[in-house]
Amino acid sequence: MAARRSRALWPLSGRGCSWALLSLRPPWGWTRPMSTEKPGADTHFGFETVSEEEKGDKVYQVFESVAKKYDVMNDSMSLGIHRIWKDLLLRKMHPFSGTKLLDVAGGTGDIAFRFLNYIKAQNQRQQQRELKSHQNLSWEEIAKWYQNSRSPLGESHVVVCDINKEMLNVGKKKAQTLGHKRGLAWVVGDAEELPFDDDKFDVYTIAFGIRNVTHIDRALQEAYRVLKPGGRFLCLEFSQVSNPIISRLYDLYSFQVIPVMGEVIAGDWKSYQYLVESIRRFPPQEEFKEMIEDAGFQKVTYESLTSGIVAIHSGFKL
Ligand SMILES: C[S@@+](CC[C@H](N)C(=O)[O-])C[C@H]1O[C@@H](n2cnc3c(N)ncnc32)[C@H](O)[C@@H]1O
Repeated sequence: MAARRSRALWPLSGRGCSWALLSLRPPWGWTRPMSTEKPGADTHFGFETVSEEEKGDKVYQVFESVAKKYDVMNDSMSLGIHRIWKDLLLRKMHPFSGTKLLDVAGGTGDIAFRFLNYIKAQNQRQQQRELKSHQNLSWEEIAKWYQNSRSPLGESHVVVCDINKEMLNVGKKKAQTLGHKRGLAWVVGDAEELPFDDDKFDVYTIAFGIRNVTHIDRALQEAYRVLKPGGRFLCLEFSQVSNPIISRLYDLYSFQVIPVMGEVIAGDWKSYQYLVESIRRFPPQEEFKEMIEDAGFQKVTYESLTSGIVAIHSGFKL
């Protein structure tokens, strides 16, 4: 076992509660797994069948290997569109001053930085509105207003949690470069066994992360546990393209171009091959909605973006 998989991080190893995949829908596709409680069960790593133990290690290696090139690859592969998807996730969340966010599988911090910028911009707009609504203020009063004004973040806070410390290290450096000093914490942890108390966060996000976890149902249960009553679950993930022509073109691009780009830009064909395969193995919108409901969430909805290349699922702990 690799040194990174400490008992604390992987307490479920060897417990044997697992899913077995029934079969693959050829040439690829989603088949709903069944809970079997079978020890040492197999799962999938892209199109490969591997043991559950192996999958954790392999996923870790993928992100350890791509961490330094992760952001540049994201921009190249998606032609920058991942930025718009992430902005839309924030717009859907519409956080307010005081929101406590947990961003799981947060990697290099894209969602966290958007959250902090959103809150700061919102608070500054409100502060300026208040200032403008007061007529005939002297310069001294205006200066005092600015000095006394609350911090642009208020009580808002985001915790970025990821199993991979290499990804988090890249994120921490980015935070320094972008000047995010407050309202941000980085925690190494497994989505399937989050190192947080119950009922702690207002919002839980997971962007392009949940398809990498071994037991999606456990990750969803953990999301439910750590959210406060009234809290919101939001997941941005690759999904199923509905239009057959776009689907064909998307497959061609994914399988013929992305691994080549991975090799040229990051020197890593295999990791990007896994990436496209894992996308095809993730459940389509309706199936994933049911899984979120099975975890206890209510008012579960989803919105497909870019013809279903990705979808944002939302649910509430009520
Ligand atoms: C494709 S990246 C997404 C990063 C970021 N959310 C974004 O949208 O750019 C997937 C992330 O999931 C993390 N990950 C994989 N399995 C995980 C697990 N079981 N628990 C927590 N994070 C995990 C990886 O380390 C990686 O940082």
